[in-house]
Amino acid sequence: MSGLKAFEAEGWNQQAASYDLLTGRVTARVAAPLLDAAGVMAGHRVLDVACGTGGLSTAATRRGASPLGIDLAEAMVDAARTALPGTEFRVADAEVLPFPDDRFDAAIGGFVLNHLPHPARCAEECARVVAPGGRVAFAVWERPRRSRLIGLLGDAMEAAGADRNAGVPEGPDDFAYADGGRMRRLLEGAGLDEVDVATVELQVRVGDAEELWRGLIGGLVRAPAALAASDEDTRTRARAAFDQTVEEFAVPDGGLSVPAVVRVGAGRVPG
Ligand SMILES: C[S@@+](CC[C@H](N)C(=O)[O-])C[C@H]1O[C@@H](n2cnc3c(N)ncnc32)[C@H](O)[C@@H]1O
Repeated sequence: MSGLKAFEAEGWNQQAASYDLLTGRVTARVAAPLLDAAGVMAGHRVLDVACGTGGLSTAATRRGASPLGIDLAEAMVDAARTALPGTEFRVADAEVLPFPDDRFDAAIGGFVLNHLPHPARCAEECARVVAPGGRVAFAVWERPRRSRLIGLLGDAMEAAGADRNAGVPEGPDDFAYADGGRMRRLLEGAGLDEVDVATVELQVRVGDAEELWRGLIGGLVRAPAALAASDEDTRTRARAAFDQTVEEFAVPDGGLSVPAVVRVGAGRVPG
């Protein structure tokens, strides 16, 4: 396994138990637009690429579709199996899908492209395993200047003078496919037509800074790994900077409301 893949598998194995504290709850709110973009309907066989704890598969099941999920992290696969007993979940790599051509009616990939060394391979593999006329859809986070939720830990580390990449292997730009043109080229490059790129805007409500901190530390991989690689003083300064920053999201009931913005790109397998 490459350095980035081993890091991702290990990191997500550690986060499986805490993912749904925050991140999994937010990504599950993108299920409806993602399934719509993939044209998922009752009776469809749907591949959930990088299924995580199974939130998107659960939503597909509610539509009457039959999902099958894959993920590189075994603990994520176990969590998905627990969440959705009776549905098949397997350990597999999104860049090398262990399925024959045309096996599915649709494929969805929620928040996976930025974790892959070769995202184009994943798009091509999804296009291969979906039958002609079926659709492939991906969701990615917008850049942190708009999707504030996703940048809060990195901002806090920067304010604390921490190295945001400590202990994190080199990989492609985290937010490359937030760019609508690049998302479109990725999908067209995989041979898809009728490509569409849309934006989904959410407000994420949490009780307080502690809940937000715990949710992000337990629901992301790179920033928490870099923070863990810092010394204790730096971590303390980062937490103080975080608490100060999130004050701007305070709402009158005493909680916080943070913007999260998602790019959804989809296309059709010709034929
Ligand atoms: C941010 S989580 C997204 C999970 C889920 N799709 C969702 O929307 O909540 C990223 C997931 O990608 C998985 N992952 C990372 N690299 C992968 C790879 N090469 N193949 C399959 N899954 C991978 C991780 O294990 C993790 O479960």
